Amino acid sequence: MKDKLALLQDKISEAQLGGGQKRIDKQHEKGKLTARERVHFLLDPGSFEEIGMLVTHRSHSFGMEKQRIPGDGVVTGYGTVNGRLIYVFAQDFTVFGGSLSETHAEKICKIMDLAMQNGVPVIGLNDSGGARIQEGVKSLGGYADIFYRNVISSGVVPQISAIMGPCAGGAVYSPAMTDFTVMVEGTSYMFVTGPNVVKTVTNEEVTAEELGGASAHSTKSGVTHLTAANDIDCIEKIKRLLSYIPQNCEEKTPRRPYEMGEEIRDQLKDIIPESANQPYDMRDVVTGIVDEDSFLEIHKDYADNIIVGFARLAGRSIGIVGNQPMSLAGVLDVDSSKKGARFVRFCDCFNIPLLVLVDVPGFLPGTDQEWNGIIVNGAKLLYAFSEATVPRVTLITRKAYGGAYDVMNSKHIGADMNFAWPSAEIAVMGAKGASEIIFRREIAAADDPEAMLKEKEAQYQQMFANPYRAARRGFIDEVIEPQLSRRKLIRAYEMLENKVTHLPKKKHGNIPL
Ligand code: HXC
Repeated sequence: MKDKLALLQDKISEAQLGGGQKRIDKQHEKGKLTARERVHFLLDPGSFEEIGMLVTHRSHSFGMEKQRIPGDGVVTGYGTVNGRLIYVFAQDFTVFGGSLSETHAEKICKIMDLAMQNGVPVIGLNDSGGARIQEGVKSLGGYADIFYRNVISSGVVPQISAIMGPCAGGAVYSPAMTDFTVMVEGTSYMFVTGPNVVKTVTNEEVTAEELGGASAHSTKSGVTHLTAANDIDCIEKIKRLLSYIPQNCEEKTPRRPYEMGEEIRDQLKDIIPESANQPYDMRDVVTGIVDEDSFLEIHKDYADNIIVGFARLAGRSIGIVGNQPMSLAGVLDVDSSKKGARFVRFCDCFNIPLLVLVDVPGFLPGTDQEWNGIIVNGAKLLYAFSEATVPRVTLITRKAYGGAYDVMNSKHIGADMNFAWPSAEIAVMGAKGASEIIFRREIAAADDPEAMLKEKEAQYQQMFANPYRAARRGFIDEVIEPQLSRRKLIRAYEMLENKVTHLPKKKHGNIPL
């Protein structure tokens, strides 16, 4: 009995050491933490319960039968983050490069199944050389078992992926199907095919960092939602993200205690510039409205003509989507439509009320946009808003032109409360463009066509460049002074607190993917 116990103790310490001290040192030299250190920093002290610490692989090929390391390259279990339960897996690069064997996959699937049954988020800390080469199709099957669970869990429990090392080949599709991906700068990369294959197939010379590092995916592809300076920063970002999100699709969003005051924010009065074509930072509107230091921007460096992120309003989480006049005048294009739509879908899955801040001159014209499918991509945002059943509130700060007015959470597509500042302009298009079309003949016949255009523009501006026509039709519920926005919004969300809307019975809609 004593011997057996000692043997077990040895196995446990062997598992905790992963691939051994040398490999741990190598991991540290690369500026990376080990799997166990990552789990330690993620979870509340003493809360981690490990599952499957002694599991080993079953492979007999290529001498693998002589190398069975307890845990098999992944640490799995559960614990709490700020007192709330989560399931976690952390791939251990010190054991066979964190590569995924059949049993490694089984361990991950086990916690994913538990997470689904218990309505709890899953956090995946990825650091792996991909499919365990010695296992062939068994490891490919293991990946597919995980992919399947990613999809089935989608919209039921939140799933967050941290990329803290290599993530290549088909392995990238698991993080891609989770809700959020966080990449560590300098030590992580994601690509379907690496630089060598790229060179062979396309003759392009590119480094792993250029091809699939944190910078490429945060600015060019939009694959990653957040980037982190190092492992600790990555873990802190995951914790912060979790604080806005409920445990599952049946729960309401987390709420912090809040005592209502006057809630007047004078700084909002001075944001809109004198000239309608002058940009301003929509983030100033966001921070002017929400609780102090509560805005967590998602996808910050990708498609920055739209901003999305979480914040708290009187202690309750909300999701914010806002046009950004600082970039491309806040126009909607392919990438910003996709970015906005994905965020709206996430918020709707997990009962996070939406606030939409509108200053949009329309959709971006041009062959590049048309040929890249602005029609179908713009439709994604329209579809996502239309289908969302969470409380939906809109505030138009300045322009709401054309189809983009409809798309940006208008009353017509199911928004609950629509506010506008007095500076709002709701029209089919800008005054100049509109006048050139509808007064074309008069302008052409005039002695001074330019003066005539100016006159007509002013006429049009006076008639349409305000929120009052829309308010008279009830498309805007109230025109509000900017400094009252926070108070009005808090009250609107309180009023919508118990909103229930059921979509017609169907298998699922057919979002224009
Ligand atoms: C088995 C692996 C492995 C793998 C790494 N190792 N990847 N063992 N299967 N996929 C082992 C190495 O042999 C080595 O063992 C140890 O892990 C550390 O690897 P190093 O190469 O020393 O580390 P590093 O220099 O940091 O390079 C990391 C790496 C490289 C870039 C990830 O290891 C690599 O290129 N690995 C192969 C990647 C790959 O092609 N994977 C298959 C992709 S296809 P020793 O004992 O020597 O220390 C795929 C399909 C998924 O994943 C499909 C899903 C549908």
